[in-house]
Amino acid sequence: MEKPVLDIQNLTVRYGKTCDYCRNGGTLVKNTCPHCKTVWACSDVNVTLYEGEILGIVGESGSGKSTLMKSLYFDFGITEGEGYLRDFENGEVNIFEQSLQKKKYMKNHIMGMVYQNPLLGLRMDYSSAGNIAEKLIAAGQRNFEGMNRRVEELLDAVEILQSRKKEPPKNFSGGMQQRVQISKALANNPAILLLDEVTTGLDLSVQAKVLELIRRIRQEFHISIMLVSHDLAVIRMLADRTIVMLDGKIIEQGLTDQILDDPQQPYTQQLVHSLL
Ligand SMILES: Nc1ncnc2c1ncn2[C@@H]1O[C@H](COP(=O)(O)OP(=O)(O)O)[C@@H](O)[C@H]1O
Ligand SMILES: [Mg+2]
Ligand SMILES: [Zn+2]
Repeated sequence: MEKPVLDIQNLTVRYGKTCDYCRNGGTLVKNTCPHCKTVWACSDVNVTLYEGEILGIVGESGSGKSTLMKSLYFDFGITEGEGYLRDFENGEVNIFEQSLQKKKYMKNHIMGMVYQNPLLGLRMDYSSAGNIAEKLIAAGQRNFEGMNRRVEELLDAVEILQSRKKEPPKNFSGGMQQRVQISKALANNPAILLLDEVTTGLDLSVQAKVLELIRRIRQEFHISIMLVSHDLAVIRMLADRTIVMLDGKIIEQGLTDQILDDPQQPYTQQLVHSLL
């Protein structure tokens, strides 16, 4: 078997202190303990990502998709679980147990993240080139010429005109902001790209362009992608395999075609039918 680029085991993330009832497996109301109101945003989630694939993660709002992605990018501490990156210590150590410095290394060299909300991923007042350069500097680059060339390459890759590189993202449309985020995420040639609802809220025509861009990036950069969306149409267009989440749990997974043509769970059937 091929070694996965990312392997997450039994990831649990909760918001709140928990009580005896929910700690001992008491029934939750969706993802929330009826007694102490603790939110179990991800419960016992297992995900494997293979080289060069696009893995779709679909589920309604609140199902835990962003929590999964943000935990992977170390935006907050997890409650329980293990994670292994093929490109970090040969996939032999739990990434969640590493020092801040090592987590930074992983974020700057192995993973790139694109947030649904560009405010979380960009400095809106810096130039777009500056946003990308910041990521290059974080990975140890110091050569101005080299950085400048790389910035130009990345802007080309996401089809932003060189003439606009000095403009801050706050001047840009939503679709362009997402493209700046994508170029920044790709800056240091990471093995893994994390995309959280990158097209949500964009006009349909702009959405289509960003989706096409993602398809092209997969081919050009030979990168593995985790693609979160609440929109099955987006997943259908891009994902090789798909995971369906509901109330913090994975309820179904398989090849995207299989999930779409022959969903097994009532919830997935409902999702698929709402698309037809
Ligand atoms: N910082 C937080 N504090 C408390 N609850 C949170 C926090 N962030 C997210 N949640 C809750 O966790 C659950 C999962 O949220 P999220 O991962 O954002 O879902 P999705 O991305 O699928 O919409 C939701 O019930 C949400 O209200
Ligand atoms: Mg989300
Ligand atoms: Zn509780």
